[in-house]
Amino acid sequence: MKRDFLTLRDLSSEEIDLLLKRAVELKSGKDKNKCPLIGRSIGLLFEKASTRTRVSLEVGIYQLGAQAIYMNPKEIQIGRGETIYDTAKVLSRYLSAVVIRTFSHNTLIEFASHSLIPVINGLSNLHHPCQALGDLMTILEKKGRLKGIRLAYVGDGNNVANSLIDAASLMGINLAIACPKGCEPDPDVLEKAKASANSVITILKDPKEAAYRADVVYTDVWVSMGQEKESAKKKRKFKNYQLNSNLLSYAKNDAIVLHCMPAHRGEEITDEIIDGPQSAVFDQAENRLHTQKALLEFLLA
Ligand code: CP
Ligand code: NVA
Repeated sequence: MKRDFLTLRDLSSEEIDLLLKRAVELKSGKDKNKCPLIGRSIGLLFEKASTRTRVSLEVGIYQLGAQAIYMNPKEIQIGRGETIYDTAKVLSRYLSAVVIRTFSHNTLIEFASHSLIPVINGLSNLHHPCQALGDLMTILEKKGRLKGIRLAYVGDGNNVANSLIDAASLMGINLAIACPKGCEPDPDVLEKAKASANSVITILKDPKEAAYRADVVYTDVWVSMGQEKESAKKKRKFKNYQLNSNLLSYAKNDAIVLHCMPAHRGEEITDEIIDGPQSAVFDQAENRLHTQKALLEFLLA
C-alpha cells in the first residue's frame, strides 16, 4: 500500500521520531555509500520556483542511488490541458514516487487519489510538510529535545505556519503564533492540532508576547508565491512584525532563529538577525537534505 506525504499528519509522532533519528544518522555520514533506491526514478513536478526543495531533493535522490526527473508543468502535457487523472496514471507506470509543488492543495489530493505511487507535497498554498521535517531536525539538533520547547512564529499564517502547527501538535512543542488580524493560519489545521492536545497552540496579535521567553523564534516572508498582487497591502499589515534585535530580546538569551528561506532581508527579518550568532537558518536549509533522504527511504526503501 503506497503512503503519501501531503501533510505532516500523514506520519505519526513515532514515525517522525524515527525519521528524525535516521536523518541525524544520514547527516553523520552513516551509510554514505549505501544506495537503497538504486535503479529507481523519482519525479519532481514543480509549478512554482524553488531553490532548497528542488536542489536538496535532486542531490538527496542521487545520493540514495536513484534518478530525479524535474518537470516544469509548462513543458509537459499537463500545461496543455492533459488531466491530472491521466498524468497521475501514466507517471505511476514510470516513476517510484513524485514530489509536487503547486498552488491549490486540492491538486495534490486529486493527484494522490489517482496515483499508484507515493505523492510528496513539495509545498502547496496550504502546507509545507518537507520544510517542517527540516525545522524539527534543526530544533532537535540545537536544543536537544522537542517536547516542551517554546516556539514563537511571527508573521503570516501561511503554508509554513500551518505545517509548523502540525509539527508542534504532533511533537509536543508549545507554539505561539503572532499575526495581524485576517492573516491567521488555516482554521481546520488549528482545530485538528487543538483536538490532539499534545501541546499548547496560541494565536496572538502581539509579536513580543509570542517571542517572550521563547526557545525558538521563526519567521517567513510576508508575501508568499502567488500573492504578488497583494504585496503592498500585506507589507503595510506586517510592518510591526519584523524579526529584529528588539523583538529577539524578548526571547530567551540562548534562543535560536529560524526562517525557511528565501528571506526578504529588511522586511520580515533584518540582516543583523539572519546573519547573527543566534541564527540557525543555514543549518535549517541543510537539514532539508537529510530529512528528505530519510523520508524517501521511509516511503520507498
Ligand atoms: N524553503 C523552501 O522551500 O525553499 P525553496 O522555495 O527555495 O524550495
Ligand atoms: N510561504 C512561502 C514559503 C516559501 C518556501 C511561500 O509559499 O512562498
